[in-house]
Amino acid sequence: MICENLSVNEKGHLCIGGRDTVELAEKYGTPLYVFDEDRIRARCRTYQAALHEAFGDKACALYAGKAASFRAMYRIMKDEGMGVDVVSSGEIYTALSAGFPLEKAYFHSNNKTDADIAYAMENGIGYFVVDNREELDAIEAIASEKGIRQKILLRLTPGIDPHTYAAVATGKVDSKFGSAIETGQAEEMTVYAQSLSALDLVGFHCHVGSQVFDSDVFLRAAAIMLNFAAKMKEKYGFVLRELDLGGGYGVRYLDSDPEIDIAENIRTVGAAVVAQCKALGLELPAVRMEPGRSIVADAALTLYTVGTVKRIPGYKNYVSVDGGMTDNPRYALYGSSYTVLLANRANDTGKTFRATVAGRCCESGDLLQENVELPNDTHRGDLLAVLTTGAYNYSMASNYNRIPRPPIVMLRDGEDRLAVRRESFADICRNDL
Ligand code: LLP
Repeated sequence: MICENLSVNEKGHLCIGGRDTVELAEKYGTPLYVFDEDRIRARCRTYQAALHEAFGDKACALYAGKAASFRAMYRIMKDEGMGVDVVSSGEIYTALSAGFPLEKAYFHSNNKTDADIAYAMENGIGYFVVDNREELDAIEAIASEKGIRQKILLRLTPGIDPHTYAAVATGKVDSKFGSAIETGQAEEMTVYAQSLSALDLVGFHCHVGSQVFDSDVFLRAAAIMLNFAAKMKEKYGFVLRELDLGGGYGVRYLDSDPEIDIAENIRTVGAAVVAQCKALGLELPAVRMEPGRSIVADAALTLYTVGTVKRIPGYKNYVSVDGGMTDNPRYALYGSSYTVLLANRANDTGKTFRATVAGRCCESGDLLQENVELPNDTHRGDLLAVLTTGAYNYSMASNYNRIPRPPIVMLRDGEDRLAVRRESFADICRNDL
């Protein structure tokens, strides 16, 4: 199986975290997101332990909540001693209402409104990761008004192409995110930020992209950031206290995808950063990483009930399920690969047919996956599982066609509990006047 928390039991049912998915589907209905909390916690520990080993106790992993943001996640992050990366007032509200200590939150986004800035400050946000010069002015103005000295990092673009898909490559000079080192804007921002009295410039941030497997990308990014910090020290006496290397480690969606050894990777980056700091005469900064996908993606799967099976001779075969782009828009948006199987017949070794797995929306592009091999007799009522759906599925879900979002069930120590209720039709109309 693609992830070690998956197995097949004696009934031939797919299990996650040791629990039978057919039983979970019977109990909670479909579509259903199932998250294995033990796996999420294990991943947090892998990051924290590796970061501490590589960079010392000041280092900390920040969970990128954009991957999956709901209260239970922030409770887990608090418990595991993680920081968080938030990108909107809505994520801040969710974290706060789950009791997450906001001083460990880093506020991203390329366009924070004045209302966002004020809201974050009023609630004691730890850091703003500042994207651009207008934002420096806005944060300075609001912090001065409130009599706050606000800690900030500057988001810089190191000018690296991580060779992932275009929608998630963010470290290049041509990006809506950050200020480029190459164009001199990063330097201008550093000088300007230091001149602003309500801001405390603590360090720099970069994020090169998402679903990145090439560890060389992180090494190159770290090297460019440290060289820049050394230059800022030499020219302006700037002291780098924090260095945030962003998120982006890839996960396996298919058996053919490579597996990343996160701990080993961090060790390699750590050795390079420590050596380079020494060579440049920099004190080792407190290092942050911001994993999202690699914390949650393979901790979850989505269960659907098969409805229509349509064979169009000479063309394609469509297997339609009771969810689709509303709970997982990633195939429609990026053509993302997923592993798909029948959860109630996970051991079926009979004849297969090639199918397109379609959603229930009134839209041709509403597909979950194409060219999937499923048992030839796949029929209405079968339970279909899409694996590795923990990241950027629930968080990107919508109510298109007024379809309610599925619930989230969390599994911990073999016990299941509801973390997010299924939306009702009333929920969907809640704001309609
Ligand atoms: N830090 C920053 C500043 C980011 O922009 C991101 C992701 C992360 C951390 C977390 O990256 P991760 O470890 O999850 O790769 N919706 C797309 C992914 C967008 C990623 C946006 N930024 C998808 O479904 O593939």
